[in-house]
Amino acid sequence: MGELTGRDFLKEVDFTPEEWMHLVDLAGELKAARREGREERRLVGKNLALIFEKGSTRTRAAFEIAAQHQGAFTTYLDSSGSHIGSKESPADTARVLERMYDGIEFRGSRQDVIEALAENASVPVWNGLTDDWHPTQSLCDAFTMLESAGRPASEISFAYLGDCRFNMGNSLLTMGAMMGMDVRLISPELFAPSPELVESAREIAETTGARITVSDDLEAVRGADFVHTDVWVSMGEPKGVWAERCRILAPYRVTPRVMRMAGGDAKFMHCLPAFHDLETSTARLVHDLTGMRELEVSHDVFESEASIVFDQAENRLHTIKAVMVATLS
Ligand code: CP
Ligand code: NVA
Repeated sequence: MGELTGRDFLKEVDFTPEEWMHLVDLAGELKAARREGREERRLVGKNLALIFEKGSTRTRAAFEIAAQHQGAFTTYLDSSGSHIGSKESPADTARVLERMYDGIEFRGSRQDVIEALAENASVPVWNGLTDDWHPTQSLCDAFTMLESAGRPASEISFAYLGDCRFNMGNSLLTMGAMMGMDVRLISPELFAPSPELVESAREIAETTGARITVSDDLEAVRGADFVHTDVWVSMGEPKGVWAERCRILAPYRVTPRVMRMAGGDAKFMHCLPAFHDLETSTARLVHDLTGMRELEVSHDVFESEASIVFDQAENRLHTIKAVMVATLS
């Protein structure tokens, strides 16, 4: 396995399947150590910059708390309180921050911005989400599926329903291919993953034994151990697309029927936040536009026994900690 110290964490394919699995295993060790009160602090005195051009609950909290558990300090930088993205280029920002920090997390729209940060900073740069990739989430999802199934990755199948051409679709497809899983991406053609990405996942699958299915037919969910979905409109997309997006993606909502098709033991997963009720201003806005009370997942599936979304959310902490420990210590 390659050395991970000093490496960036920008997207799944920058790692070999063995390196990726090492991160998953390390997350398991760190989670167990925390639970058993024997966590060692491997990042004592490190300083970490957390750049968030887009909002976050889980990713920010996970980076901050994982850093605190490990003895590191964090600075939260958003676009309104810093020059990032408005007055200072990624290259200049990187060359300033590397003088003060041991690691830099970035969340924003453009993958080329994080690639530029990484090129210009001598310290590890971690992707906290771009429009193209959400690798800390897919690492968490890999870990959560293995933990929940208690079987090797080669015996795990999962379906992802909804918008398959954005960060979560891209990351889950690539992660599943790398882990040798049975991966099914299900969406209307308009929201299918890019042919280049599917081709690349199939190439990876040839070496890992993964099975890749891309379909517009809900039947492809049959027998899946895990059913994933994500919001239908992602951060940074214009509000004007909600009505049409809801109309096109409504048949792909994860409902009790979809879960029954997957099978009795299937588990529901979602990176969160999820639109399953009218308890948020955005959900109420979309309800006014479309009359829909629940979007990508029905409320009863979200709240059901099959839903492991909060275990998944907790695992953001352990997996992000693994990324920092592996690349910094
Ligand atoms: N899943 C996820 O990335 O959540 P946040 O947007 O809250 O960080
Ligand atoms: N696709 C979503 C993921 C949120 C964690 C977004 O980009 O908003």
